[in-house]
Amino acid sequence: MGVLSGKEVVLGVTGGIAAYKACEIVRELRKESANVRVILTASGAQFITPLSLQTLSKNPVVMDLFNLISESEIGHISLAQRANLVMIAPATANIIGKIRSGIADDMLSTVVMATNAPVLLAPAMNAQMYASAAVRENLSVLRERGFHFVEPDEGELACGTVGPGRLADGGKIMEMARIVLSEKPLAGRKVVVSAGPTAEHLDPVRFLSNRASGKMGFAMARTACRFGASVTLVSGPTSLPDPPFLRTVRVRTAEEMFTAVTRAAEDADAVVMCAAVADFRAKGAAPRKIKKEGFDYRVELAPTVDILESLGKNKGSRALVGFAAETDDLARNAVEKMRRKNLDAIVANDVSRTDIGFESDNNEVRIFFPDGEVRDLPLCTKDGIAVGVWLALDGKLFRR
Ligand code: CTP
Repeated sequence: MGVLSGKEVVLGVTGGIAAYKACEIVRELRKESANVRVILTASGAQFITPLSLQTLSKNPVVMDLFNLISESEIGHISLAQRANLVMIAPATANIIGKIRSGIADDMLSTVVMATNAPVLLAPAMNAQMYASAAVRENLSVLRERGFHFVEPDEGELACGTVGPGRLADGGKIMEMARIVLSEKPLAGRKVVVSAGPTAEHLDPVRFLSNRASGKMGFAMARTACRFGASVTLVSGPTSLPDPPFLRTVRVRTAEEMFTAVTRAAEDADAVVMCAAVADFRAKGAAPRKIKKEGFDYRVELAPTVDILESLGKNKGSRALVGFAAETDDLARNAVEKMRRKNLDAIVANDVSRTDIGFESDNNEVRIFFPDGEVRDLPLCTKDGIAVGVWLALDGKLFRR
């Protein structure tokens, strides 16, 4: 169950060309089982119809502060009080100015003033307006007052200018909503998470790799970020896009991953190695493409550097966590790896099963600790597993 599940979300839609993108946000919120109440401002209604938003949100769209029927059914104070989160996407310069100045002259500005819930603004406007002294000052005052923001993207705007001002991608706005609503057990922690496979080159076009998709590592990184940690994700080659609001370092080989992880680990509280680091590389990869003619079909292999084992030799106060994908003797192999690499925990899963692991969106894991404790996390999404793993690690490693 995601963090938005069962939450009351008020979504304010103000008057900008990006108002149509609010439909997608409503859909995403509904998909995650949030109850969505849309407040459409008068100028927002010039760009998108209340019927679209009502159909998607499955709730009446609120527009007029002084409408007797809607006020008797769900008044502005009750909307404000019931909300777990108020989002405004797109947020125009006008609504930002009103909120900053304490003007409450319509439903949306009134609800924002009357709520105790966190407020998340996704500004969208012409680049000149966004750069104007008034908007800059209003944003910085609101930031100090604890409002949350998703910065607009750069690009060509509807008015023809180019620059920052385009409503941020819906996925980014959704992720910020999850971050805002998440508990923060990892606040103040710095963590490094590795993900994906590594690719060890035989020649410029061929490489040795493995089936890791990176999904589990990305879920671990995203979840740590939602839980308040400052996160560096070191990823091998995957098709997954960089997650927003954290630092992603892309690498290809085990050697590159070693360098990136060790550097990021210097001031980290925890290193979690989800990556399926290739165990061997070609000894002396060919600098030019190998041609079939004259090739004897033999490749000499050499071991890659073991990143965790190396970190384990000089551990300091960092927590080190491994992941073990096993097909046989899961418990014995996982515990042996934990000891050999001097780890504080190892998360093991059975990759002989086809319903979990590798490319799957689901997983089921056992977490082993050096004191003999074992925690089982039953089958669920990789995001759900990541929540369980971080909570287990937090309770066991950070609060000792
Ligand atoms: N690991 C690592 N560097 C390597 C290989 C593995 O840091 N060169 C890390 C993985 O990221 C994982 C843990 O060690 O967190 C266990 O990886 P695994 O491949 O299961 O263990 P190996 O030691 O490689 O043993 P084997 O492949 O023989 O099972």
